[in-house]
Amino acid sequence: MDSVEHLSPYMFRYKSTIFATREGLTLEDIHGFQHLEVRPTDICLCTFPKSGTMWMQEILVQIVNAAYPNQVEDVSNRMRVPWLEGMSFNNVFRESHDPRMFRTHVFPDLLPKDVKAKKIKVVYVMRNPKDVLVSLYHFTQSWIQLESVKTFGDIFWDFLEDNAPGGSWFDHVLHFHREKDQMDIHFIKYEDMLMDLRGEVVKLCAFLGKDLTDEAIDHVVEMSTFKNMKTNPKANYKDLLEADKYRKPTMRKGEAGDWKNYFTVAQNEHFDKVFKERMGEFPLSFTWDLQQ
Ligand code: A3P
Repeated sequence: MDSVEHLSPYMFRYKSTIFATREGLTLEDIHGFQHLEVRPTDICLCTFPKSGTMWMQEILVQIVNAAYPNQVEDVSNRMRVPWLEGMSFNNVFRESHDPRMFRTHVFPDLLPKDVKAKKIKVVYVMRNPKDVLVSLYHFTQSWIQLESVKTFGDIFWDFLEDNAPGGSWFDHVLHFHREKDQMDIHFIKYEDMLMDLRGEVVKLCAFLGKDLTDEAIDHVVEMSTFKNMKTNPKANYKDLLEADKYRKPTMRKGEAGDWKNYFTVAQNEHFDKVFKERMGEFPLSFTWDLQQ
């Protein structure tokens, strides 16, 4: 679908991606993504919203800082890994040092063409969709550009009908996986990072071709724990809270299995049914809970 679909005064869908209307992007801006000039050393972070974007931002920033100590930039992660869909993206990205990084929630069809053409490194973080949904529920009450969802039940149905912020979680994961051979992409699971952050950082460094010492890897891990990010204003978007753009901290709980505190038995059964229908034979597994 190539026309714009207005879902509410707060959101519109173009192709598969849902945009926040108040962010102010025009279709021309969105078409401009395609032509973004990307360098072979750039790194692209792709996620469905609430899947661990900020977490991976911090990990990437720390890896790049360790690999290029002379190029460390004293800026927040929001500036170091700017958001493609954000109004200030072009200015911020233009000012970035190599290796540049950017993050986005767009579906693969709206990614800059160079992402595939130049085979730049793409990191795709996935999280079990029940926890994504709970996190999204809270996020709608936080970000001033979204309509605050009143009840969990409301966003539950929107999510399953592909109309919650971010669009279709199912299609996002499926499309990136379907196009994996056209990209140089590394899939990483939020829950695997919770279980073994160091192990995942080591695998990520190998993918990115960054040869870090054990001490440097320890530092990356230490900086990107939930506890440390929560108190690090460069990592936790505190500036947005202070500017009243967020009403609540985005570093909320950072766990797997919180959905059990929100889903009714009936909602859970329905979700499982839809998940099975939509994800079918999808080869990657999801982790719904972690035994503490
Ligand atoms: P919760 O709302 O479940 O706590 P995104 O960055 O894609 O918007 O995702 C936000 C989610 O990632 C939030 O989930 C947030 O708490 C979680 N998160 C951010 N940093 C984290 C970390 N270091 N460890 C675990 N979870 C983290």
